[in-house]
Amino acid sequence: MNNKIIYSNNGKYFIENIAVDEIEKKFDTPAYVYSKKSILDSYRSFEEAFKTSNHLICFAVKANPNLAILNLLANHGAGFDIVSGGELQRVIAAKGDPKKVVFSGIGKSSKEIELAIHHQILAFNIESEPELYRIQAIAQKMGKIANISVRVNPNVDAKTHPYISTGLKDNKFGVDEQKAIELYKIANNMDSIAIRGIDCHIGSQITELSPFIDSIAKLVGIIDKLKVLGIHIAHLDIGGGIGINYENEKPPNFKAYAEAILPLLEKQNLKIIFEPGRAILGKAGVLLTKVEYVKKGSTKNFAIIDAAMNDLMRPSLYNAYHDIINTSQSSESSAQFDVVGPVCETGDFIGKDRMLSLEEGNVLAVVDVGAYGMSMSSNYNSRVRPVELLVDENKIIEIRKRENFNDLIRGESII
Ligand code: LLP
Repeated sequence: MNNKIIYSNNGKYFIENIAVDEIEKKFDTPAYVYSKKSILDSYRSFEEAFKTSNHLICFAVKANPNLAILNLLANHGAGFDIVSGGELQRVIAAKGDPKKVVFSGIGKSSKEIELAIHHQILAFNIESEPELYRIQAIAQKMGKIANISVRVNPNVDAKTHPYISTGLKDNKFGVDEQKAIELYKIANNMDSIAIRGIDCHIGSQITELSPFIDSIAKLVGIIDKLKVLGIHIAHLDIGGGIGINYENEKPPNFKAYAEAILPLLEKQNLKIIFEPGRAILGKAGVLLTKVEYVKKGSTKNFAIIDAAMNDLMRPSLYNAYHDIINTSQSSESSAQFDVVGPVCETGDFIGKDRMLSLEEGNVLAVVDVGAYGMSMSSNYNSRVRPVELLVDENKIIEIRKRENFNDLIRGESII
């Protein structure tokens, strides 16, 4: 699970059976490149770990919403976790099954709710009382039944970056136990609402098992209390959050995760839903980028590359670490570099203090960017977004074209 998709053979770098320099020649840089095999290996090993249980993997679309990737996962049986109408439309465009879709997020608009009811999604993960009332009203008006699950905020510390921790009581997500029970009681009396599940998502890039175990214990406790009230829960959605190894983290593998949580659910007749994003896609992508200039200063050396914070936000936003590999030969001796983009912000860096041997024109690979890479990119500084490529053994498939100037100004006009 922690292997890099890019490897060297006699000094030449490859992704699956394709040489990196071939990709660069055909498609130029910056380019996001994914390995189909890596995506499917992760997905299948998740499936394998839970094969003895009644379960559904709902890939978190926000991690990587490219249609080809959604389609690949849908073809292998995945459902999807969405957080917007746009993500639902992507799932449908990618031939995903809306009946395997769970809809999370605290700010679902009426239009989004209507669209999701129309497509009869598996569950709305309700995050507040007014949301429940709004969904009931819309479903009633449409003459339909909306399936719901209440997102519980279990108040456990996921021990991850504060920006991506979501299960503490001060966070904006979900409701506490008492409120959850109250919402189930209200929902139980609503004529256009069907109670299906219970849900939580406590954060992202979690590398320990205990936060998951504690959350499940909380949810199971609530399920038991609901039983006494005559309210039956059919599924438990534990959310996403399993981390990957970026630098030297030691996240649990899927088997260890399954072994830790399945015993807690043994006595419950529940379907388990997962919403992984990073654990399926994170390792499966690299960002290829070229060195434009080598700028040697008195206190720092800069490798100025053709990718920037607009292409990959994670270093700037979370100070996140991504390994950087030079895939080209260089005769320069190794030196310490800040690897930075052309964007006019000091926070525009991809890596700091990296020992690299490099020169102008070299192609670098920024690794482990398959999740929250392209999906968080922007056009800041009027930069076009990179091409996205999927490598499948000996084939390179262009799954999203590089943007051009017309894409940048689409919808704009002069007065
Ligand atoms: N379910 C819900 C309700 C979520 O909010 C998220 C992620 C997931 C599932 C998937 O979590 P994962 O398995 O990927 O950890 N941009 C950040 C990550 C933000 C995650 C937000 N929610 C990053 O680049 O690290």
